Amino acid sequence: MPEAVSGQAPVRLCDAADLEEGGPGVRFSVALDRREIGAFVVRFDGAAHGYLNQCAHVPMELDWQEGRFFDASGLYLMCATHGAVYAPDSGECVGGPCRGASLAKLRIEEREGQVYWLPEAPYRAAEAAGGA
Ligand code: FES
Repeated sequence: MPEAVSGQAPVRLCDAADLEEGGPGVRFSVALDRREIGAFVVRFDGAAHGYLNQCAHVPMELDWQEGRFFDASGLYLMCATHGAVYAPDSGECVGGPCRGASLAKLRIEEREGQVYWLPEAPYRAAEAAGGA
């Protein structure tokens, strides 16, 4: 298990093998204040990347079909609402209505075949987070 950051225990999200390169993402929840917010993790360029599931244009979820975050090319994350496209490794919007803005990136680590989210303030583990 990875080291805790911000004094919060890592949250196991899924098996590393569950995340295919450019394939479906795994959704989970994070807690912020008293709210639960959707988040997701995908694999790109061999590494797992996690973000809040909130577009930088309007805070709507990106995936129009659950878990479908990549565009047809598999090279960009795409918001289903107005088509903003994001670099999967940085979360920066590289096209669309919020160009130059970014998705909120979460700290993800792979260890021994498992994918973990390392919660950092202001985010905390949600009750139902992980456990996939
Ligand atoms: S809500 Fe995502 S592009 Fe507008």
